[in-house]
Amino acid sequence: MRKDGIIPINKPNVPDLKSLLPEYSEVFDNGMLTNHKYVGIFEERLREYLRTENVVCVSCCTSGLMLVAKCLVLTGEVIVPSFTFPATVHSLIWNNLTPVFVDCDPETFNLDVAQVEKKITEKTSAILGVYIFGNPPEMEKLENLASKYHLKLIFDSAHALGARFGGKFAGNFGDAEVFSLAPTKIITSGEGGIITTKEKTLAEKLRLARNYGNPGDYDCSLLGLNARMNELSAILGLKSMNLLEGSIAKREVLVDLYKRELSKIEGIDFQKIKEGNRTTFNYFAILINPRKFGMNNKKLLLALKEKGIMTRIYFYPPVHRQKVYKQYYATYINSLPCTDKIADSIICLPLYSDMGEERVLRVCEAIKDLGGNTRHERG
Ligand SMILES: Cc1ncc(COP(=O)(O)O)c(C=O)c1O
Repeated sequence: MRKDGIIPINKPNVPDLKSLLPEYSEVFDNGMLTNHKYVGIFEERLREYLRTENVVCVSCCTSGLMLVAKCLVLTGEVIVPSFTFPATVHSLIWNNLTPVFVDCDPETFNLDVAQVEKKITEKTSAILGVYIFGNPPEMEKLENLASKYHLKLIFDSAHALGARFGGKFAGNFGDAEVFSLAPTKIITSGEGGIITTKEKTLAEKLRLARNYGNPGDYDCSLLGLNARMNELSAILGLKSMNLLEGSIAKREVLVDLYKRELSKIEGIDFQKIKEGNRTTFNYFAILINPRKFGMNNKKLLLALKEKGIMTRIYFYPPVHRQKVYKQYYATYINSLPCTDKIADSIICLPLYSDMGEERVLRVCEAIKDLGGNTRHERG
């Protein structure tokens, strides 16, 4: 192992502990660990930052997605990508909904909108889009489709806090969006989720739903969960907001450096971010063409690990190929060619907000050493 140590794929982005102590001390003193003021203060801070109308904080993105599907009273089929994290789709199954998988776009890795329209039937009640690694999907086209067919439109925005489609922040699209504040995200609250919605009545229903559906007298009016964010998480999230813009800017610089170096090597491609949009680079993913590069993504992962560089083949397997989704296999096997191709060639490289440029260069050097020819040599 090299003296300069292991390079992790990801590191939690947290503020200085001292900056949290006044609020943490207050909560420890008054004993109000949950159901108190900091969740509301955090929600207000997020509302201002995202310039959105309603924010409801929850325990995680998964519970947020489950509650959104429940509160929108979705039925039948929901159109969703398979190239995503399993929780996107689990949230539908937990609501007895049928996921209808749609292939992804080979360049952006997001939902292929042309395919979405083909999958709409009379049973479809919603489209669930995902910002893959923070990259905004085609919002206008999806909004037009949803309104043309009277469908609900939801986004799994787990990776997308701070992303923008055109001039608008993620958190302003569809009927609702749900973000994650897990430790692998741009900022974290330990665990946590954020729901945004333009609809006040939906926000009120979600507030009830995150608290068992209990309006206060335990005469529950809907089947909710305990999906509350606790006060300590809210304080961590609130203080971490000061890190958010700087972290995205830092990641942009690191990704530029990665791209400058890696584009010199044959057989490597990048996720496309459409002009005018901002991704968060929650992950920096590259596609490996084994014939041109000289080895496939799985071998590259092992070879980099030998050199102390941690990477991840992500998302893999795609959801439609996971064991628990076997019952849907028969329909989807070989029918999502782009999803399969991307899942078989992708690899996410180390990227975190306080990563030094020398570490990016070390990763690029290692990939260059392992790969085949440089583009220059091939002419
Ligand atoms: C796209 C996507 N959706 C949902 C989730 C689940 O988020 P959480 O862990 O906050 O429930 C993740 C987690 O990484 C994710 O990547």
